[in-house]
Amino acid sequence: MSFPARPLLFTLPAEPAHRLTIRLLAGWASAGLPFAPQPPALPVTVAGITFANPLGLAAGVDKDGRAIDGFLALGFGHVEIGTLTPLPQPGNPRPRLFRLVADRAVINRMGFNNAGLAAALPRAERARRRGVLGINIGANKDAADRIADYEHGVAGAACVSDYVTINISSPNTQGLRDLQHGPALVELLARAAGARGTTPLFLKVAPDLDHRQVDAIARAAIDAGIDALIVGNTTTARFTLASPNAGESGGLSGAPLAALARRRLADFRTATGGALPLIAVGGIGDAGEAYARIRAGASLVQLYTALVYGGPGLPARLLRDLAALLARDGFATVAEATGTDS
Ligand code: FNR
Repeated sequence: MSFPARPLLFTLPAEPAHRLTIRLLAGWASAGLPFAPQPPALPVTVAGITFANPLGLAAGVDKDGRAIDGFLALGFGHVEIGTLTPLPQPGNPRPRLFRLVADRAVINRMGFNNAGLAAALPRAERARRRGVLGINIGANKDAADRIADYEHGVAGAACVSDYVTINISSPNTQGLRDLQHGPALVELLARAAGARGTTPLFLKVAPDLDHRQVDAIARAAIDAGIDALIVGNTTTARFTLASPNAGESGGLSGAPLAALARRRLADFRTATGGALPLIAVGGIGDAGEAYARIRAGASLVQLYTALVYGGPGLPARLLRDLAALLARDGFATVAEATGTDS
C-alpha cells in the first residue's frame, strides 16, 4: 500500500513534517475517524504486562504524548512516549533532523526537546489507551544531579504508565551515555528502582557497546531488578551512506542500523542467557527483520524511522506478514519463536 501523504510531507523539511504528522494523527483520533485495518492478535506478555502484539512505537516520535490514541489505532501494541525530562527544554539549534532518503535512514541531534513531564503526564492520563503505554524518561541537559532527574522522572511516570523506560543512550546530550557504565550505572539503577513502586522498569541502551560493556550492563540490570532491556538507540557510527546529509552529526537510525542493532541484540541475549526480556529496536522496517530479531532473542520490537518511509499502513502490514511467518514455521505464539536462533 502506498502512503498518499508522503509526497506532501516530503516537500516539507523533516521537523515541520513531523509536527504536522503528530497533529494530523491526534486530530484524526479525537474525531474518531477510521484507521488502518486492525492487525492480527499476537499477544505477548513481558514483565507481567500483556501486549496485544509485539510491535511498538519507539520513543522520540511522540515525545510529549500528543497522539497516543492515534498511534495505537495504527495497530501498534504499545506506544512509548518521551524522552521526557523534569523541566521543559528546547533541545539543540535547528536544523537538527535530517532525512537520508536514499539510505532509508535519518540522522537526528534533537537533544531531548520536550515540554517536560508535568505537561505530558496529564495527557497520558487522559488517553483512552487501547494498548500499552510506556513512558521514556531522561535528564535535563543542565541538571546538577542527573540521577536525581531520573529518580524524579520514574516516580512521576510510574503513576500513569504501564512501564517506564530509563533512557541513558541518547548520543545528543553530552555525557549521558557515561551513565551506562561503572558505579554511575549501579547508583542510577538503584535509585530508579527505589522510585518505581510496582511499575515495571525498562532500560534503553546504545548499540555502540563492546562485549565487556554488554556483560557489565546485563549484570547490573539483573542485579537491580530491571524488567527488560531495550536494544537500542541510534548509533554514532557511520556506515557507507549515499545521501547528501550523511555527514551531519547526531544519531543515525533506519535501515543502515539494522545489522549493528541485530548483533548487539544477540550479544545481550548471550549475556543474559534469556534471564531478561529484550526489546529490539533499530532498522526494523518489515516483518522479515522483526521476525529475525524475535528469533535472535527479542520478546517485543519497536520502530521509528521505517514509519517515515513506510507510512501509517506499515504497522498493520508488518504484523500481518509476521503472523504469516510465525505460522509458516509452526510457532503458535511469539514467545515460542523468541530466541530460537540464539
Ligand atoms: C529518536 N530516538 C529516541 N530514543 C529515545 O529513547 N528517546 C528519544 O527522545 C528519542 N528521540 C528520537 C528522535 C528521532 C528524530 C529519532 C530518529 C530517534 C531513538 C529511537 O527510539 C530508536 O531507538 C532509533 O531511532 C532506532 O530505531 P529505528 O528508527 O531505526 O526504527
